[in-house]
Amino acid sequence: MKISVIGAGYVGLTTATCLAEIGHTVRCADNDETKLNLLRCGQMPFFEPHLEELVLKNCQAGRLRFETTESSVVNAEAIFICVGTPPLENGEADLSAIANVARTIGQRATGDCLVIEKSTVPVQTGQQLKRQLQLYVDKGLRCDLVSNPEFLREGSAIEDFFHPDRIVIGVEREEAARQIEEIYRPLLDRSFHCPVHSDCKEDRKPAWVVTDTNSAELIKHASNSFLAMKISFINMVSDLCDAVGADVSKVALGMGMDPRIGPAFLNPGIGFGGFCFPKDVQAFVRIAEKAGCDFSLLREVENVNKRRIELFVEKVRKELWVVRGRKIAVWGLAFKPNTDDVRFAPSLEIVRSLIREGAEVSAYDPQATEKARAVMPDVRYCANPYEAAQGAEAVVVVTEWEEFRHIDWQRLRRLVERPLIIDGRNALDSKLVARNGFHYVSIGRAAVAAEDVECGDREKIRTENAERAVQDIALEGLTRAL
Ligand code: UDX
Repeated sequence: MKISVIGAGYVGLTTATCLAEIGHTVRCADNDETKLNLLRCGQMPFFEPHLEELVLKNCQAGRLRFETTESSVVNAEAIFICVGTPPLENGEADLSAIANVARTIGQRATGDCLVIEKSTVPVQTGQQLKRQLQLYVDKGLRCDLVSNPEFLREGSAIEDFFHPDRIVIGVEREEAARQIEEIYRPLLDRSFHCPVHSDCKEDRKPAWVVTDTNSAELIKHASNSFLAMKISFINMVSDLCDAVGADVSKVALGMGMDPRIGPAFLNPGIGFGGFCFPKDVQAFVRIAEKAGCDFSLLREVENVNKRRIELFVEKVRKELWVVRGRKIAVWGLAFKPNTDDVRFAPSLEIVRSLIREGAEVSAYDPQATEKARAVMPDVRYCANPYEAAQGAEAVVVVTEWEEFRHIDWQRLRRLVERPLIIDGRNALDSKLVARNGFHYVSIGRAAVAAEDVECGDREKIRTENAERAVQDIALEGLTRAL
């Protein structure tokens, strides 16, 4: 099918590329000419695993091109709207980009087509969009509106596209559902070869959920808000664990075994961030308010989340006593691993707070340094975790990058001024860290004291570290081979 995807951000660029990969002819549009030119030269505007290779592959195959919005909608059979809906001052979503796109479609589209709303929008936006598209209908053309909310996560967006749990479709006409089903047919039949993952769940077909547009729009906001609530809930439980001496990991494990609860999104820490959860929860509260429903439960979810930053900084303060003048290594900057996105990242708030208190911060992130530097120039950015830790009195982990689980602890031990790890993501193996002579502090779990490292133990640790390194190399080799 001839498809136009409007918006070359996280959702749009991933959607356009993956639709091309499953065989469609896709024109991806953006109003940022610089971004389009970069993409035409094969340069990605952000880091997302596997995206670059798939963009290049599909451009070379002639299935993917980058154009202006105006030209991309001409002759398109389906138009995906993937433009941003950033928060306004009052928390509501700014829908001006969506309205502009609707106007362009009305003016420029030339044949019958499906208009698919993928951006996260408040309920009833579809109805507004339909009114905007009246221009189109006035030309005697048929234009069906479909709500098709996106659930992809940054850092695993490509995998999420090829292996969705569900595809949600909100339509007004049966025929529109049939047409969009054709677009997703390869995913529904599993009749494509996953280009990037060897451990494809080939036999797991996604659920196909067809409903009205209002319900589809609500599914997105309700899902993200519910997940945010789960995170705030476990964060409160972790505070309780800290207060009474229980272990939040064990509590989460026990809770998650109940299929009605499930184990996902029960990792406590410094709170949720990124461009979706904070804005979607805020927007959902406003949507409810405007509809006359008091969703104060979600306001509390936001409040709990905001308090995470101060609670974590308090943990650092408690360990260091005086923060002023202390050298602190911060590991991680991105709002989550496998992305370079620092928008609404709690890690940045923590760094800012430590600097305000007079700490000397050295930070390291495998991908997000440049984006962090653009908004936080005063920090000393390092090329690797060891450089950041040189002379540090505390190493603070704020993003759970896999790399941090494979540190050479003995090397690190020699570099730091004081062997103290404060893990804001419960990402590290507490026993391993302590056995290497570090005092380990985490969230909702008792601190683990550094073990005295005797000569014999040193040998044991060296062997363990070496074995770990060999396993990592073998695993990497195996993954590459597959
Ligand atoms: C989210 C939704 O998951 C996705 O379906 C939607 O389309 C976009 O918003 P994303 O923002 O990319 O995706 O990241 P996600 O993995 O959901 O994490 C969101 C935030 O919650 C991150 O800051 C993460 O660190 C935090 N989180 C997540 C926790 O603190 N604990 C958890 O257990 C899970």
